Amino acid sequence: GVKAEIKKICIKNLDKQRTLPAEFFTTSKEELLRDPEIDVIVELIDDASAAFEIVKASLQNGKAVVTANKRMLAEHLKEIYELQQRYKRPVLYEGAVCGSIPIIRNLEEYYDNDMIKRVEGIFNGSTNYILTKVLEEGNSYSDALQEAQTLGFAESDPRFDVQAFDSAFKLAILVVHAFGIFVRPENIIRFGIERISAVDLKYAKYHDLSIKLVARAFKSGNNIYALVAPQFIDTRHSLHTVRNEFNAVLIEGAFAEEQLFVGKGAGGYPTGSAVLSDISALRYDYGYEYRKLNQENQVSFSNEAVIDVVVSFSNDIQISTDKFIRFDGGLHVQRQQSMHGLASIGRIKQWSGQEGISVIVKPGAVLEPLVVGEKKVLNYA
Ligand code: HSE
Repeated sequence: GVKAEIKKICIKNLDKQRTLPAEFFTTSKEELLRDPEIDVIVELIDDASAAFEIVKASLQNGKAVVTANKRMLAEHLKEIYELQQRYKRPVLYEGAVCGSIPIIRNLEEYYDNDMIKRVEGIFNGSTNYILTKVLEEGNSYSDALQEAQTLGFAESDPRFDVQAFDSAFKLAILVVHAFGIFVRPENIIRFGIERISAVDLKYAKYHDLSIKLVARAFKSGNNIYALVAPQFIDTRHSLHTVRNEFNAVLIEGAFAEEQLFVGKGAGGYPTGSAVLSDISALRYDYGYEYRKLNQENQVSFSNEAVIDVVVSFSNDIQISTDKFIRFDGGLHVQRQQSMHGLASIGRIKQWSGQEGISVIVKPGAVLEPLVVGEKKVLNYA
């Protein structure tokens, strides 16, 4: 149904073998940006700064943009929103968040009149693939990561996947469409999967749990809280069966209640399907209206929240129990220790900066606002 013509494709390397005839290709982006016949630029490059310049120049030249560059979007979303208002051309980016799951358009259109309380899920295909292979098939972490790279799921620098930057970028984008607030991706506290220890894996196996990298944001009062961290997931949890490169987004609305979207979150074809859907939507001049942003209740972003976690580390690291808001107990297994309890997001951020400490959210745990005044600090010194 898409009546569009590809006029030119701008690439870096002219010598690479391509399946289309050579006349389609150029290495000059100006050739596309200055061509008055081209009315849509599809931006699918790796370099986020260069991508932002291309998006800006496209809008300035009166061209609509389709992009899947989550880092560029997360880092510049406010400017991109303002550029769209100024130049009256849309930027669509469904492919940037959870591959083939049509989550942005659903947040914009379907949930327009619902008050969203919570958005959470598995937003990164590579880490989900790695965790599935390690936990269910006994593969080593490095083999599983290499497979995710070979299959084209991982970022060119896979630290963006395993250190949870990618999930935080996607969460920052969804927060704008779900709650109407721009949040800098670096303000979202994240804990990756690369510190998950052998003890954590044993704990998961023993209790029949899986581990997923879960991105979450929720609204309480006029505050929005967010966190990306691995979580133990029990068999009753709706994310339990989301395996390999599949992603899932759980939306909780005041009226719609819980809804779960599942689909492939990485890979050329699933991402391509979202990009094609955006190109197709431009036929009828579709653009995001950022409806939540323009609704009355202004919200603020806050990191003053707490969540139940399991913290594991080797015996040469000391963590005192008063680092927890509520300490629930600990365990020594050979040279490893683990501690359970309620921790603040600020503390989780501190632990993420300390090598050798692994933090995993407990099964069924939810992020809750830190209630100052009721803060209980237990001292077991
Ligand atoms: N590296 C990303 C992932 C690609 O694994 O989910 C899709 O954004």
